[in-house]
Amino acid sequence: MYIERKPTINLEELKKEFTNNLGEIEYVQSSEQALEELFNFVELQHNYAAALEEIGTKLKILDDEFQVAYKHNPIHHMEKRVKEFPSLIKKLKRKGFPLNAESAKENIQDIAGIRVVCNYIEDVYTIEKLLLRQADVKLLKRKNYIEYPKSNGYKSLHIVVSIPVFLAERVKVIPVEIQIRTIGMDMWASLEHKLRYKNPRVSTEQYQEKLKECSIEITNVEQKMQEMNDEIYRDEMGSMS
Ligand code: GTP
Ligand code: MG
Repeated sequence: MYIERKPTINLEELKKEFTNNLGEIEYVQSSEQALEELFNFVELQHNYAAALEEIGTKLKILDDEFQVAYKHNPIHHMEKRVKEFPSLIKKLKRKGFPLNAESAKENIQDIAGIRVVCNYIEDVYTIEKLLLRQADVKLLKRKNYIEYPKSNGYKSLHIVVSIPVFLAERVKVIPVEIQIRTIGMDMWASLEHKLRYKNPRVSTEQYQEKLKECSIEITNVEQKMQEMNDEIYRDEMGSMS
């Protein structure tokens, strides 16, 4: 059920991007400092990858347990990624933050990201509730674009949680951004993303209305499917008693 989108650390890219941005990375005046800063970034990526593993495992355990108890998997699939160095640098620049690992830790909340694609709308909230109930998971931020869709039609539940990661010498509490959405919402977001990246200006104008319509239609279809699924579940429970 996992889709690993990218290797955690792409050394070639890291080297290229790091060299290109060396002049702008704060405090770096000597090659020792440059090496130290490079290590900081590598360490950062390792720690965030570990936090992603922790959250991914928790979600998988919840999904498995649900299958046993209710014969239903809330999670269709998950995708996880650690933000690669080039996009991390790009985001720091875009937001006007200093270019170093410390600043990335302080200012960027989506270095570790996991997308949880659920079968039905109810599953989205079930997953959120069960995850946030766990003592070591702390909610830092929540944006509900399902209840309040973006004007383009984008829907998803975004939460940022922190999780302790037990390393050899210490415990680090690390934030992870979790996007929880249905299969339909994911289908919509993938197409919208593709259109926007292919041809940003034309696509937004040309497809704006169609995309909004699709978003509404997808919601209707998913609601109907949810109702049917609920009925089947009630029938099954009824016949068992
Ligand atoms: P940033 O600092 O820019 O990440 O702002 P934010 O964290 O407040 O952003 P938000 O929570 O709104 O969205 C973060 C992520 O959600 C993006 O990186 C996308 O993966 C996804 N996302 C948000 N809006 C859209 C959208 O309109 N279309 C698509 N396809 N994805 C979106
Ligand atoms: Mg974000």
